[in-house]
Amino acid sequence: MSWQDPETKEKFRRLDQVLDIYGRDSEQLIRVLQQAQEIFGYLPEEVQAYISHKMDIPVSTVNGVVTFYALFSTQPRGKYNINVCLGTACYVQGAQQIYDGLREQLGIKEGDTTPDMLFTVRSSRCVGACGLAPVVTVNEEVHGKLSPRDVAKLIKKYQKKQAAGEKHEDQELAGPGTYQAPSPAGS
Ligand code: FES
Repeated sequence: MSWQDPETKEKFRRLDQVLDIYGRDSEQLIRVLQQAQEIFGYLPEEVQAYISHKMDIPVSTVNGVVTFYALFSTQPRGKYNINVCLGTACYVQGAQQIYDGLREQLGIKEGDTTPDMLFTVRSSRCVGACGLAPVVTVNEEVHGKLSPRDVAKLIKKYQKKQAAGEKHEDQELAGPGTYQAPSPAGS
């Protein structure tokens, strides 16, 4: 992370706004960290140290909170964060095969994230939806009662979403009044 990079500077400016709201109230640390993660996408050491300094909380405390909660990440994450619950209810219903299948089909050999930064696959303990076991969450969306056969479908769903998003962005970039040829029927 380069502090000179304009994009990084802008992110720290937004973090300052968050810190202005919460001040030095240590009870708001989790909320500040959540918002910092939304801004930066993850919580690298520099960001933790900055928050520690600004809130006057020891960096070891900040780091302790970051590493304790599964929702925080110290590594850059993909656009789609897949979390496979490996709690008991999900595990006995085949969650491990789903987790392995996701990693295998996405070609993740090391770490948690695909090289294109589209998917991060992680596992967690019970997410409190045992009635839907086995459960996989993708960002805020919950997918329940999955089987290992659903893995390919799940991946495809988000790949399509990504492709649709890119198309949408392209259209926006084309600007108003630009003719967009209709796609061929049936495609
Ligand atoms: S064990 Fe997976 S939701 Fe409870």
